[in-house]
Amino acid sequence: MTEGLPARDGNRRRVVVLGGSGLLGARAADAIAARGHEVVRVSRSTGVDAVTGTGLAEAFAGADTVVDCLNITTTRRRPAVDFFTTSATHVADAARAAGVGHVVCLSIVNVTEPGLRSALGYYAGKAAQDDVYRGRLLDGPARVGFTSLRSTQWFDFAEQLLRQLRLGPLAVVPAMRVQPVSADAVAEAIADAVDAGPEGAARTIDVAGPEVLDTGTMARRLAERRGTPAVATVPIPSRTLRTGGLLPPPGARIDPRTFDDWLAEQRS
Ligand SMILES: NC(=O)c1ccc[n+]([C@@H]2O[C@H](COP(=O)([O-])OP(=O)(O)OC[C@H]3O[C@@H](n4cnc5c(N)ncnc54)[C@H](OP(=O)(O)O)[C@@H]3O)[C@@H](O)[C@H]2O)c1
Repeated sequence: MTEGLPARDGNRRRVVVLGGSGLLGARAADAIAARGHEVVRVSRSTGVDAVTGTGLAEAFAGADTVVDCLNITTTRRRPAVDFFTTSATHVADAARAAGVGHVVCLSIVNVTEPGLRSALGYYAGKAAQDDVYRGRLLDGPARVGFTSLRSTQWFDFAEQLLRQLRLGPLAVVPAMRVQPVSADAVAEAIADAVDAGPEGAARTIDVAGPEVLDTGTMARRLAERRGTPAVATVPIPSRTLRTGGLLPPPGARIDPRTFDDWLAEQRS
């Protein structure tokens, strides 16, 4: 099913959002539709499977832009690398075959830096995804423009930290320095990238929030608001993650919304 108003600048694009039912994919689809583009939200629940390739050719027919907001919930290297490599290969090949002009992939700041690639299995998967897109979209005459839209951790990461590892009544949180950002701000940055279209063959856009926080503080403040559970922090083995490897690089777009703004909207 497609949706959308007439585009404000008359330049109405047909945009396929992969993972359009997910946390960020749903918001990105809303933000893109609000700009007046025609949006098609796809995922396995709509019959499109990026890992097997099922339904991609049909979904991409007539599309100008594809936005990849796919995700797998794992911390293990092999499943993460398999998922992101296989899905990006199918998406890139189907996009080229359908004559799509621009692929925007939602990713994580610094993810292709060697220190981050080797820090966690999940990051190895996201780095591999970026490599596949660059390799398959930018090679040869029928190039497809590529935008790697890289964000810091979202404020919602605090929820994940509370749920991830429990030891009786304690939530155990790995201590990392992050500069978290509003998920709505990331969705808006994706809509801006869709509006702008591809610039040159490939570009990277970094998005972050306004303040550096440690993950223990984020989890504790959310737990306090909710009244449960207590939080204990543990050092994370990766030196890169302990020492600011997840902080945004210079030139990142900084959104002013704060973690406190987000916290105030959460149920108590
Ligand atoms: N969390 C953060 O702080 C953060 C920061 C920066 C970047 N990111 C990136 O943001 C991206 C999106 O994360 P999210 O938390 O919004 O994801 P999510 O809520 O877990 O949603 C994942 C989406 O992917 C779809 N999906 C999964 N497997 C699929 C498949 N084989 N074929 C088609 N669709 C499939 C799911 O729908 P179905 O189950 O119906 O298929 C769902 O719509 C991730 O790549 C993540 O790395 C996250």
